[in-house]
Amino acid sequence: MDAAEIDLIEKTGLSRIESAASLDDLRAAETEVLGKKSAIARLNTRLGSLSPDDRKAVGQVINHARARLQAAADERRVALGAEERRRRLEAERLDLTEVLPGPPTRGHLTLITQTRDELEDLFVGMGYAVAEGPEVETDWYNFEALNIPKAHPARSGHDSLYFEWGEPESTLLRTHTSPVQIRVMQTQPPPIYSIMPGKVYRKDTPDARHTPSFSQLEGLVVDRGITFGDMAGTIDTFTRAYFGPGMRSRLRPAYFPFTEPSAEFEVTCAICAGSGCRTCSGTGWIELGGCGMVHPNVFAAVGLDAEEWSGFAFGFGIDRLAQMRHGIADMRVLLDNDIRFIGQF
Ligand code: PHE
Repeated sequence: MDAAEIDLIEKTGLSRIESAASLDDLRAAETEVLGKKSAIARLNTRLGSLSPDDRKAVGQVINHARARLQAAADERRVALGAEERRRRLEAERLDLTEVLPGPPTRGHLTLITQTRDELEDLFVGMGYAVAEGPEVETDWYNFEALNIPKAHPARSGHDSLYFEWGEPESTLLRTHTSPVQIRVMQTQPPPIYSIMPGKVYRKDTPDARHTPSFSQLEGLVVDRGITFGDMAGTIDTFTRAYFGPGMRSRLRPAYFPFTEPSAEFEVTCAICAGSGCRTCSGTGWIELGGCGMVHPNVFAAVGLDAEEWSGFAFGFGIDRLAQMRHGIADMRVLLDNDIRFIGQF
């Protein structure tokens, strides 16, 4: 082992490091040149056969060569990192000065917002006020006050997204707009005729009929002598006003913890006009939302006397409504930002 051999190993190593074409390649080069099985590491194992004096001198030469190789690798890493960053920025650059041919086109509200605005107008025309609430809710508003205590099976159907905030599972993205019912009843005395539109969140895997974030519209009426018939009439009036005079609605028994009795409401299938098709599984009806008479436990949670007041609530998905009315097969396009889709509305 002599200085020339060490020098050659260093030169070969340096040229391997300097020719590394990417950060990944540089990692591979470092293993080859400086790793346990590298030529320089093998030199070290041969030191044992030298005299103590030679061992010290040669060992120092090897160490210096190793330090220079390491320094070269560090330098190359900085250079490659800067180069990769520069390339990424270049690739992501947006030319904001680009001028498209033809007259400029104006943007417009998304289909979901248009639908929500139209629904608000419709209910305001029927005498309802519009209320809003926070999208980040406490367990009490989203569940407890709505008669869904801890360990209630209905919670599992909601696939909630919780925050790491305070007590475990105490703060979440609201899974429905129903907590706004509670907030409205807490802040204003009856009579209440309100709708509560807004975004809700569930840990759902996106598919043609589900997106993890969607919009609901909730309705709440609290007054003296409100009946199930008032609710059915309201839903039917709304159905005809929104979908057209030929459309009907019907109620089917269902269960919600916060209403009793509860129902699912269905409307005439818009695709086949009620004669039965694939979309409605041959029934002629499409399920739109839930509804029912406000449960006495919910009145108790907000301090209202269930003997004096009665009411109904209903809720449905705004996205689902837009999907039905416009015959959109896959809900995901509503959130995709694809100009070819957005431009149609
Ligand atoms: N909150 C219910 C849901 O998201 C819908 C609903 C609202 C049902 C009001 C009844 C009354 O599934």
